[in-house]
Amino acid sequence: MGDPLLEVRNLHVHFDTHDGVAEVINGIDFTLNRGETAALVGETGCGKSVTVKAILGLLPSARIPAGEIVYKGENVLDLSDAQRHARRGTDMSMIMQDPMTSLNPVLTVGEQMLDVLKWQGRSRLSFTSWMRDKLDRGTNDAHRERAIEMLGDVEISAPERVFESYPVELSGGMRQRVLIAIALLSEPDLLVADEPGTALDVTTEAKVLDLLDDLVEERDTSVLYITHDLGIAREVSDYINVMYAGEVVEQAPTGELFANPQHPYTRGLLSSIPSLSTGIGSGIEGHLPDYTDPPTACRFADRCPHAEPECREFYPYPRTTGTDHTVACHLFDGPPAHARHAEGDAVDVDIGEPPWYDRADGRHQSNAVLGGESQS
Ligand SMILES: Nc1ncnc2c1ncn2[C@@H]1O[C@H](COP(=O)(O)OP(=O)(O)OP(=O)(O)O)[C@@H](O)[C@H]1O
Ligand code: SF4
Ligand SMILES: [Mg+2]
Repeated sequence: MGDPLLEVRNLHVHFDTHDGVAEVINGIDFTLNRGETAALVGETGCGKSVTVKAILGLLPSARIPAGEIVYKGENVLDLSDAQRHARRGTDMSMIMQDPMTSLNPVLTVGEQMLDVLKWQGRSRLSFTSWMRDKLDRGTNDAHRERAIEMLGDVEISAPERVFESYPVELSGGMRQRVLIAIALLSEPDLLVADEPGTALDVTTEAKVLDLLDDLVEERDTSVLYITHDLGIAREVSDYINVMYAGEVVEQAPTGELFANPQHPYTRGLLSSIPSLSTGIGSGIEGHLPDYTDPPTACRFADRCPHAEPECREFYPYPRTTGTDHTVACHLFDGPPAHARHAEGDAVDVDIGEPPWYDRADGRHQSNAVLGGESQS
C-alpha cells in the first residue's frame, strides 16, 4: 500500500447543455500515491481533461453532484474558491494540453514567471503588498534569478534571452519547456500534466517527456499524467487508469496492466498501438456515447465484440481481479472494488469467461486483441 496524496472517490461531473444534462464523469475512483506517477488514459472526449480540471477547481460551469477529491487527507470540494486558488499555484500545478494557448501572448516569459512567483500561495494581493512587491528590488532580483535558473533546469540553452522573449518568438518545443518551468517554479507536490507532448513532433515530444521524467524524479513530485496513448503511459507511469466515456474501466500497476489486460476496451487500446512489424494498429470501431443520453449499463456495449444482452441491462461495477487490479466488465468476477457497491446493487451477471482466457495456465493471453484473435 502506498501513501495516498490524491484520492478521487465516486466523482460525478455534469454540464448543463442546450441538449440537456451531459453526464460526463460517472462515478470514477482512483488514487495517486506520493512520489508516484499515475496515468489517466483514454481516447479523445473520454473525460480526462474534465477530470483533472475538476481536481484543480478549474470548471466553473460544471456541477459535481457527488464525489470527493481528497488531497492530503482533505476534501478539496469543501474548500472555498480562494483556498483552492491559493493551493493551485503552490501545492498543485498543471501543464495544460495546448502550449500555444496556455501562455499569455502579450506578456514576456519573464513577466509570466515573475507573476507566478509573486502570487505563490496568495489568494489575493492588497494594493499595499502589490506596491511593496513592485518596489522591492531585492525580491524582484531574487525572483528573476530563480526564474532564469528554472529555465536552465528545463534545458533551455539561452535562459536570459528566453526570459525576455514573447511566446510567439519561441518554437513549440521551447514553449512546452517554458510551461514545464512555470509549473515547477512553485515546487508543487502534485503536478498534473495534460498531454504535454501532443502538440509537438515525435522527437521533441520524446525529449520533453524525458526531461519531465528527470525533473519530477529529482524533486520527488507526484504526477498525474494524462494521455490518449497507452504506449506513452507505459513509459512514464507506475500505475494506469484506463478511462472510457467518463468511467474508469480498468486500473492496475503498469506492468500488470500490460501483462494481463482485461477490459475489452483496454485490449482494444493495446491493439491500437502500432506494432513494430506492421506499423499499423487495428483500433476500435465506433465512437463514444452521447453524454446527454448515455447507456445506463455498460457504456462500452455498442463497441464491444463480447457484448451480451445483459451488458445493456446491468451496470458492470468495478471488481477486484488481482492485487491493485480492478476491472468493470461482466466477463470478470471478483469482490466489488468499492465499498459502496458491496451491498445489494453489485449484481452478479454471468456472461461466461473472456474468450482469450487460457484455462491451461490460468492467465490471459496478453497479445490477444479485441475480438479474441492473436496479433502476429
Ligand atoms: N464546459 C463544458 N460544457 C459541456 N461539455 C463539456 C465541457 N467541457 C467538456 N465537455 C465535454 O466533456 C467531454 C469530455 O471532454 P474532455 O475535454 O475531458 O475530453 P478529453 O478526454 O480530455 O479529450 P482530449 O483527449 O481530446 O483532450 C466531451 O464530450 C466534452 O465535449
Ligand atoms: S460488460 Fe459486456 S459490453 Fe461491457 S465491456 Fe464487458 S463484455 Fe463488453
Ligand atoms: Mg483533454
